Amino acid sequence: MQILTSFEAFQNEALTAISGAKDAEQLESVRVEFLGQKNGRIRELQKLVGQAGPEEKPLVGKRFNEVRTVVTAALEQRLIQVTSASTETKSDFDVTLPGDRPRLGTLHPVTQTIMEFRELMGRFGFTVVEGPELEDEHHNFEALNIPEDHPARDPLDNFYISCAQVTAGSPVLLRSQTSTVQIRTMETSVPPVRIVSLGRVYRPDTIDATQSCMFHQMEGLMVDRHVTMAQLKTVLSLFARSFLGPDVEIRFRPSFFPFTEPSVEVDVKRGDTWMEIGGAGMVDPNVFRAVGYDPEEVSGFAFGLGIERFCMKHYGIDDIRRFYENDLRFLSQF
Ligand code: DAH
Repeated sequence: MQILTSFEAFQNEALTAISGAKDAEQLESVRVEFLGQKNGRIRELQKLVGQAGPEEKPLVGKRFNEVRTVVTAALEQRLIQVTSASTETKSDFDVTLPGDRPRLGTLHPVTQTIMEFRELMGRFGFTVVEGPELEDEHHNFEALNIPEDHPARDPLDNFYISCAQVTAGSPVLLRSQTSTVQIRTMETSVPPVRIVSLGRVYRPDTIDATQSCMFHQMEGLMVDRHVTMAQLKTVLSLFARSFLGPDVEIRFRPSFFPFTEPSVEVDVKRGDTWMEIGGAGMVDPNVFRAVGYDPEEVSGFAFGLGIERFCMKHYGIDDIRRFYENDLRFLSQF
């Protein structure tokens, strides 16, 4: 019968196309071509069934269903084959091959030093406090007993921020020292006080191997009854030894700061060389008066240390500018 021959041809062609399909996409176009609802070739076969005479019809109808079932089953079968083949290719991945090592970063040496200082001073009983980097003249100078005509207040020696001044209504500058935090702390707390504050300070100095216009300081303040200079020296030498090593020596040289009396410069010695690390002294009675403390009742010591100095010594870095040149080696782990 002519019709049945067409069915045979349809089935053979469909099966050949199905087995030739390499992936799910090709298989889908084969499906559309042969079994597609709209324009698939199966539609022609369906028409032939319609045209069959009454005696032929049961046989033709049965054969039509068989052909459609065979082709549909073959399609499904092949789909399983091609999709599992593609997962097999993925599992060719060799898990024993060495992988790409992720590049680990590390904290900047200055940040690491700050964290170590906090930890050390915490162990000596000092609480860490923070202060703002934008300051007013009261906290940066006046309450610290730095009079209006003092050279440290020269506008050329400070970063005054004119737009901030417009909002604040009085001069605003980037703090030139962390001593500001002594004032802020005493203004809001009663003695005894034992704090450190670590952070950035700004000065328009000429940049060279030893100074930068932004650097970090650690400020310390201890106020109580009968605080002595001997305690100051003990705290600073314990601190220096804990950080730089047990053989480190420290010495005080007489100096002057408006907010301490007496005042000293602090040096540490490691090996044969002395290095200046900052200033210190006994809190000046005028500073106590400015924050409402009674200098007859309490005494205190204060110190301000340059963090980069320590950090350079510790890591063997000879130029402060290296810290701030975005050299990625400072941030990578070897
Ligand atoms: N603020 C001083 C500076 O930046 C350092 C300093 C000296 C801080 C003596 C102190 C101090 O607390 O007592 O140069």
